[in-house]
Amino acid sequence: MRGIRSRRMEGLEVQYFAGLVPVIDQLLSSGVDVIRLDIGSPDLPPTQRVIDALSRSARRETHHGYQPHKGILPLREAWASFYRQRFKVELDPDQEIVPLLGSKEGIFHLCQAILNPGDVALIPDPGYLTYESGASVSGAEPTFLALRKENDYLPDLGEVPEEIAERVRVLWLNYPNNPTGAVANEHFFEQVLSFASQHDILVCHDAAYSSVTYDGYRAPSILEFPGAKEVAVEFNTLSKSHNMAGWRVGVAVGNSRVLSSLYTLKTHADSGQFLPIMEAGIEALTGDQEWIEERNKVYRQRRDLVAAVLQDLGVDYLLPKGAIYMWFSCPTGWTSTRFAQALLRRTGVSLAPGSIFGDQGEGFIRLSLCAPEHRLADAMKRMADWWSEISTGELKGEPHG
Ligand SMILES: Cc1ncc(COP(=O)(O)O)c(C=O)c1O
Repeated sequence: MRGIRSRRMEGLEVQYFAGLVPVIDQLLSSGVDVIRLDIGSPDLPPTQRVIDALSRSARRETHHGYQPHKGILPLREAWASFYRQRFKVELDPDQEIVPLLGSKEGIFHLCQAILNPGDVALIPDPGYLTYESGASVSGAEPTFLALRKENDYLPDLGEVPEEIAERVRVLWLNYPNNPTGAVANEHFFEQVLSFASQHDILVCHDAAYSSVTYDGYRAPSILEFPGAKEVAVEFNTLSKSHNMAGWRVGVAVGNSRVLSSLYTLKTHADSGQFLPIMEAGIEALTGDQEWIEERNKVYRQRRDLVAAVLQDLGVDYLLPKGAIYMWFSCPTGWTSTRFAQALLRRTGVSLAPGSIFGDQGEGFIRLSLCAPEHRLADAMKRMADWWSEISTGELKGEPHG
């Protein structure tokens, strides 16, 4: 039969975390007590007020039909109010805000809306997987910008050769960063915006973790900086900020012409969002935000627990000021994939190998802080015990390399 797979999908495999599900299911069904610290899916719930708003709205007979592709105006106004309060950024709810079915959907569709075959998309390495797959499916060339520890995991824009810079359409950035937990300073955002204006390219800043920060750090929006709306779009989401990953409530804000392309594409790709979810989203964005500070303290305590174990093991790690991950080095002689697979098999602890996020991620492991403290402590003990075994060579026959 013809028509099974398009040329655009050549080389595209099932996304790593989708492929992990049957592996985990098999372990669970054979009785293994798996602790999943591989994916960044918040284990804590949203506030009761958000849940009440959803169920109140879902009980209304008239709330089950199709909704506007751009979401209801009060939802866009709620995002505008959130950006005003948190970042002191003014947004026009009609032109500068497009609600999304989760930010991943928007990231993927934006690539299809703006990229042509032959265009270059600059992508951080390591980085969130959808920047690359979105570019590849659109026919554009993903070109990677290394995030190195010695540069505080910020890309060096000076590394982009002049002839490539001419073909660049979009530069992806994400701070606080997944997978490294790094944050970006104001000077960096200013440099990026000046690079973008100079080369006439779009900057897409993925601010998925802007509300999850520690130790008094406040993550800025790229739209706070002068001239940003001329060259930038920012993605945000309630997934991590408000513990609503399964609800699929995201947004793209910023440059109105780019957002108009995204909106046009979306009018063909989806048919809007369930009204009760939008109404609950409004409650999340405009209701009390103080609980977020308390929730961040929970993540911070978990972060410190993991850091203490890594410290004891003598492992090189970054103590993150934002996001929900710990990024640390594998034991010597192990690739990240072998390490993650063997750890899962031997201990039931599931972590994400750094190499899935790009070549620069090889040699690193990402651990998600999305588990209660007692489970994290259990996972860290299992990992530390096994780590000591492999370091002292007690473990025989385990694949290295
Ligand atoms: C950096 C980054 N961007 C975007 C997303 C997608 O979030 P969502 O689609 O749930 O809004 C994630 C999810 O893990 C992420 O880590």
